[in-house]
Amino acid sequence: DSSTPADLSALITSGLRDVPDFPKEGVVFKDITPLLAEPASLRAVVEGIAGHYAQDSVDVVLGLEARGFILAAPVALELGAGFVPVRKAGKLPRETHRASYDLEYGSETVEMHADAVSSGSRVLIVDDVLATGGTGRAAVELVDKSGGTVVGFSVLVELGFLQGRSKLTDVEPHALAVI
Ligand code: PRP
Ligand code: MG
Repeated sequence: DSSTPADLSALITSGLRDVPDFPKEGVVFKDITPLLAEPASLRAVVEGIAGHYAQDSVDVVLGLEARGFILAAPVALELGAGFVPVRKAGKLPRETHRASYDLEYGSETVEMHADAVSSGSRVLIVDDVLATGGTGRAAVELVDKSGGTVVGFSVLVELGFLQGRSKLTDVEPHALAVI
């Protein structure tokens, strides 16, 4: 059962698989694929995120490539919102807004179509993991550039020890589980 936030947190914590030294030495990779493969867990995490924002009149759910896509589209359906992809640089065909950031491993530039979020739209950002906060911060920057309003930033798992939350000054991140 995952009817309470504590139940859902326990479900996620037990379903995650730690992979040491991936993708490079010293990094412990949090593999969410076992959770996604389990029908009840997949439903519980999607409903857990959507339920948290049910009263927030979300117009658009932003999914962050690649693992954020998996959750953002079903969350958007659940909320009756649209889905907009934030992609790694060079993938989107039309005019884009861009934002760059440092990752736990490496650095990255992300893009969103410049006309994907209209001015005044209420935007929920969804990703799988909040680590150092660079990805989430870049997504907030893209929404700001488009004139949209960030309603929330939600993840399956927050790696609390990396203090990524401190980089997200304009939005209070919501995590289904914190480890
Ligand atoms: C991972 C993860 C988050 C991000 C979190 O994505 O899926 O998006 O890192 O890290 P941060 O808070 O330090 O920015 P990654 O860029 O590895 O790529 P993927 O989602 O395409 O696998
Ligand atoms: Mg990612």
